[in-house]
Amino acid sequence: MSPAKTRIAVIPGDGIGPEVVREAVRVLVLLRETRGVELEFTDFDWGAEKFLREGVSLPTGALEMLASDFDAILAGAFGDPRVASNQHAEDILLGMRRGLDLYINLRPVRLLDSRLTPLRNRKAEEIDFVVFRENTEGAYCGAGGFLRKGTADEIATQEELNTRRGVERIITAAFEYTRAQGRKRVTMADKSNVQRFGGDLWQRVFKEVAADYPELEANHQYVDAMAMFMVLDPAQYDVIVSNNLFGDILTDLAAAIQGGLGLAASGNIHPGRVSLFEPVHGSAPAIAGQGIANPVGAILTAAMMLEYLGHKEASQAIQKAVGESIVHDETTRDLGGNLSTEQVGSAICQRIVSS
Ligand code: NAD
Ligand code: IPM
Ligand code: MN
Repeated sequence: MSPAKTRIAVIPGDGIGPEVVREAVRVLVLLRETRGVELEFTDFDWGAEKFLREGVSLPTGALEMLASDFDAILAGAFGDPRVASNQHAEDILLGMRRGLDLYINLRPVRLLDSRLTPLRNRKAEEIDFVVFRENTEGAYCGAGGFLRKGTADEIATQEELNTRRGVERIITAAFEYTRAQGRKRVTMADKSNVQRFGGDLWQRVFKEVAADYPELEANHQYVDAMAMFMVLDPAQYDVIVSNNLFGDILTDLAAAIQGGLGLAASGNIHPGRVSLFEPVHGSAPAIAGQGIANPVGAILTAAMMLEYLGHKEASQAIQKAVGESIVHDETTRDLGGNLSTEQVGSAICQRIVSS
């Protein structure tokens, strides 16, 4: 009997999204051909073009279709200067995160080559941690509104929602992962010195959950201090857990210290359910269409997806090839190289073939 096909929904999106996703899919197709990883791809054209043309962002029934017909989703990026409201990106990206209840935003941070970090005198092994970002609530809940809009007395409220269930499941996921991966420490970042209600809930739940993992170290930092320590002493981090907004901001900083946004991968995960994998970076409109975007973040994202789907060996083959290509300066200009997006994809494919 031939192994069951793994069904992947591909949503390239806007800007550099299609350029980097093309390379990620090329790598996946190569693994299908050379290592028998049975993958089946279906493309979806959701993004700014479709929104501007048809007024459709996330089509009706899309979430149900993704949940029933697919094992995973591979996406590029969403955001286009022609859609000032960012409505389509909110509908598609946040729509999938919320609608599919993808409560874990898993963002690994690994320095692949000490030359890539802007931090002075850092060895590669000193930057190696994972961020668990809560992905369905917090400041992204969409609650708020205007009073007296357009007047001098205008008031805008933007609420943050923290549920006991939501906080507990992301913190538990971080501890479970730490134990399973043989890591040692979970650091929780919040702003509980100012945000007294949500922060209080996070503090209490963190202490309660930590008590169930006595072999692990659990510590806390205010998020502003964490931003500083991430630059001054990134080696202290192992697993970080934080809310949606702080996790968003910290992971751009974390991407910078590992060599830039072009390298950073992420998974939006609900264990056991269809999950969404996308690079951390956005649509980078200023460099879109020039063939210079770094595809490594998208390619490492494809590796994360394969690992999630149980194809560990294939995932490691990608990660090894990416590491080698960087060491050998097969890079785009953001990393100091002179290769195009496609040439970097080819170099990585070549290394997979010859490994
Ligand atoms: P961005 O990540 O698109 O770009 C930030 C900077 O990083 C730019 O200088 C860009 O050129 C560079 N960069 C990003 N990815 C790169 C890559 N692969 N290779 C080389 N350089 C790269 O963030 P932004 O400029 O704040 O946002 C642009 C648009 O993308 C906005 O509409 C924003 O809302 C959206 N966005 C979407 C996502 C997503 O879909 N997940 C994430 C972030 C931003
Ligand atoms: C990210 C992005 C998104 C976020 C935006 C585009 C909605 O910055 O995935 O990190 O804020 O989550
Ligand atoms: Mn972000």
